[in-house]
Amino acid sequence: MIRALLLCGLVSTVASANEAFFKAEVVDAVGPMKLPTTPGDPAWKGITGKTFRLTPQRSVHLHDKTANDVLKAGPGSSEVLVKAAASASDLVLYLEWADGAKEVVREDEVNVFADSVAVEVPERMAVGTRLPAISMGDADQYVNVALLRATKAGAQLSRFSAAGFGSLTRQAPAAEANTSLQYDEAQKVWRAVLTVALDPGNPGLIPVAFAAWDGARGERAGYKRLSAWHFVRVPNKALDPKWVEQLAFGYYPGDLGNAAAGKMLAEGVCLACHHLPGKAFAPPGLAPSLEAVGAIAAPSYLRDSITTPSKVILHEPNPNQHHVTGGPADKNGALPNADGFRWSVKGEDGKWVSKMPPFTQFTPAQLADLIAFLKTLDGPPLEKP
Ligand code: HEC
Repeated sequence: MIRALLLCGLVSTVASANEAFFKAEVVDAVGPMKLPTTPGDPAWKGITGKTFRLTPQRSVHLHDKTANDVLKAGPGSSEVLVKAAASASDLVLYLEWADGAKEVVREDEVNVFADSVAVEVPERMAVGTRLPAISMGDADQYVNVALLRATKAGAQLSRFSAAGFGSLTRQAPAAEANTSLQYDEAQKVWRAVLTVALDPGNPGLIPVAFAAWDGARGERAGYKRLSAWHFVRVPNKALDPKWVEQLAFGYYPGDLGNAAAGKMLAEGVCLACHHLPGKAFAPPGLAPSLEAVGAIAAPSYLRDSITTPSKVILHEPNPNQHHVTGGPADKNGALPNADGFRWSVKGEDGKWVSKMPPFTQFTPAQLADLIAFLKTLDGPPLEKP
């Protein structure tokens, strides 16, 4: 009797954790249906979406006055509304995000930056494969990126496969019907539709991340607003409970601990290399800033980053940004790269090894405290439209 009650309690905790996860993180794709091809298609009116946070990602240093002025003013976070429709073979995503002015470029223009939006999906998704690093994937976990740029000739679509900053491999986009980008002057929002091909073996819950660039702020390349991983549920597909459990880490009791205790621990241990809000003692660039890591990193990624950093390596955005001052300079006057500022090194077996030591000394409770604290670091407040 007691065992039955206990079991019952456990089942209901799992069920309520899953429910909370679906409520917060999952967009239900409606279908199968005839896919809408534009954001103005009336079919979208009957589909409810979800709003996700986009946080300014400023890890890439640019020599650019516009971008630096925006930075100085302290850009806020923004939001993207996401809806999804599905056919048997494709997902079509509807994206809507605020942008004060329309920046549309000619394809050959330089130093002018187009408003753009991108959707990223892991190349491999199955029980046991972790979520890739959000900033364009990593060496073990490639991501597929669909990027839509606003050009004077219309929406320009590119598709890439990426594994870490700067490792974009361009794929020729197939002729795609369901791709569109429209600016609404009255409401000052962009609306886009983009297609994500559905592999027949897909696990039914598809991880998707979003990025938006505001040309007026000088945003381009790694300089953008970025979401964490969220998920789109494919209609009529049974979900493997193990896949749900893996993605929903952070929603079960015990996954996240006490954020205040985690803060003390992080300030004691992590500040040697990382920046935390209001605490920046390490030389900039020594390690990625954790100031807004909670806004872009899934709890499972934070856990793996702490316990097994070499399995989830984030490649540095610009390995040449730091030089050995004082030389010796080469014949062109260039100073050697400062190796201390590389985030990972290639081991003899050709695998990358993180410069971050694996922290295996934490108890499960301490680890849960750290993850809870890092999840509170959700970047600057939302900007008023
Ligand atoms: C010796 C320097 C060092 C220390 C100490 C250190 N880290 Fe790191 N950390 C790094 C480097 C370098 C990277 C980037 C390479 C990688 O992904 O492993 C990194 C990456 C990370 C990432 C991934 C960030 C991202 O944006 O993807 C997280 C999360 C993280 N560290 C958390 C921690 C926490 C929490 C602590 C303290 C318990 C800590 N680190 C201590 C050097 C360090």
